[in-house]
Amino acid sequence: MAQRGKFITLEGGEGVGKTTNLAFIRQWLEARGTDLMLTREPGGTPLSEALRSLLLDNAYKGMDSTAELLMVFAARAEHLNKRILPALDAGQWVLCDRFTDASYAYQGHGRRMGRQRIAVLEKLVQGDLRPDLTLLLDVDPQTGLQRVDARAARDRFENEQLSFFQRVREGYLARAQAEPERFAVIDAAQPLAAVQKDIAAALEGLCGE
Ligand code: TMP
Repeated sequence: MAQRGKFITLEGGEGVGKTTNLAFIRQWLEARGTDLMLTREPGGTPLSEALRSLLLDNAYKGMDSTAELLMVFAARAEHLNKRILPALDAGQWVLCDRFTDASYAYQGHGRRMGRQRIAVLEKLVQGDLRPDLTLLLDVDPQTGLQRVDARAARDRFENEQLSFFQRVREGYLARAQAEPERFAVIDAAQPLAAVQKDIAAALEGLCGE
């Protein structure tokens, strides 16, 4: 049987540079011969991508927070069972653009939903599965939102107030502080070369295990 693959997640607020750095991480891992599956949340399967479209659609401004949380976890259940777990079991590494830490940060802190309700769904959907490494790209939300506005119209989340993103950032940092062995917090306000040097150091740590 193949050795189980590693599960890496990339997290951060809006406009922290996830797309650019995802490409860097992919290149870095593939250059070392890693068989990698790249995916994202919400999304990653046809049903989960359909749920993503609903979640990001400005037509549903003011969506009930519990409905939002359930949709995020419905997308996750489908994605985990159809793609992530089969890939890990087959020995592939999985690099996922956002995962459950985003639910704690956005729904938990951003929407003030409370940890416990999220923990119940986490247990139901994932059991004990957690990422092996979570890279958190951290930048102050004002800077992040300026980057978002430079590239496209805002989606339903991006249209939230600055205070929402400040809570999201605090939520992420609190999780990183609670689980320092799983998280690498990267200062994404640095020049790109410095950001990528820090990312590479965190990946070295995982590959050396
Ligand atoms: P992005 O992947 O393009 O950044 O957009 C996904 C959006 O979905 C982002 O604004 C964060 C949000 N989101 C949640 O609110 N909860 C979650 O659990 C996940 C995975 C994403």
